Amino acid sequence: MRLQNKVALITGAASGMGKGEALAFAKEGAKVVVADLNLEGAKEVVQEIKDNGGQALAVKVDVTKTEDIKAMVQQAKEGFGQIDILVNNAGVFDKYATSLETPLDKWNFFININLTSVFQVTNEVLPDMIARESGSIINIASVAGLVAGKGGAAYTATKHGVVGLTKNLASEYAKYGLKINAIAPGTIETPLIKDVVANIPKDTVPARRFGQVNEVAELAIFLESDEAKFMNGVVVPIDGGFTIQ
Ligand SMILES: NC(=O)c1ccc[n+]([C@@H]2O[C@H](COP(=O)([O-])OP(=O)(O)OC[C@H]3O[C@@H](n4cnc5c(N)ncnc54)[C@H](O)[C@@H]3O)[C@@H](O)[C@H]2O)c1
Repeated sequence: MRLQNKVALITGAASGMGKGEALAFAKEGAKVVVADLNLEGAKEVVQEIKDNGGQALAVKVDVTKTEDIKAMVQQAKEGFGQIDILVNNAGVFDKYATSLETPLDKWNFFININLTSVFQVTNEVLPDMIARESGSIINIASVAGLVAGKGGAAYTATKHGVVGLTKNLASEYAKYGLKINAIAPGTIETPLIKDVVANIPKDTVPARRFGQVNEVAELAIFLESDEAKFMNGVVVPIDGGFTIQ
C-alpha cells in the first residue's frame, strides 16, 4: 500500500474528485479526514471507507472561514495525530461567466473559495510539516489554470492563481523536505459540471471522452507516494490531451 499510515486531509471530499481521492487514499492505507461544507455527504464517505475496513473522520468546514479552517486542522490532529498529506480540492465553477457577466460579489465568492482557501488551509498546515521536515500538498487546479476557454473569467483567474501559488510554495518550502504540486484536470465527470457537460462536445478532447474521478485519484496517489519524491512545483494536466491542442 502506497500511503500506509499517512494521514490525509482532503477538502471538498464529500463529492466528485475529493470523494474519489478519499476512497482511493483509504484503500492505499491512509487515514483520511473528509472535510466538506456538506457534513452529511462527508459522513457518507467516511462510512463507505469504514465499511471497507479503512479509517476516516468527517469534518464540517467552510474553507472561506478562518475559524472553520483552524477547527478543521485541530480536529484532524486530535483524530489522527498529524497531517502528512493535504489536498486542497474544494472548489466551485462559474459556468463560463465572462468578466462583464461577473459582479464583484460573485468574483469575490470564487476567489475566496477557489484561491484564498488554498492559501489559508495551506498556511494552517505548513508549520507542522516544516517542523517535521515532511509532508505533501496537492492543489487541485484545472486546465483553466493553464489555458483560457475552460471556465469563465473568475474561475480562470482563480485556477491560474492556484498554479502560481503552488509554484511559489514549492520554491519556498521544498528545502524543508516538503513536496507541493498541482493537478490540472480537464473535464472530469463529477456533480460540479453535470449541468454543463452535456453541452461540451467530446471531440474537443483528443481522447474523445471526459475523465473519471478514479483517474484523478490515481494521479494524486502517485504524486503523494515516494515514487514522486523528486517532483516539486509541477502542475500535471490530466485532460485526455486537451491542453496539447
Ligand atoms: N469536474 C471537473 O471537470 C473539474 C475540472 C477541473 C478542476 N476541477 C476542480 O476540482 C475540484 C473538485 O471539483 P469536483 O468536480 O469534484 O466538484 P464537486 O462539486 O463534485 O465537489 C466539490 C466539493 O466541494 C465542496 N465545497 C464547495 N464549497 C465549499 C466550501 N466553501 N467549503 C468546503 N467545501 C466546499 C462541495 O460541498 C463539494 O462536496 C474543484 O476545485 C474544481 O474546480 C473540476
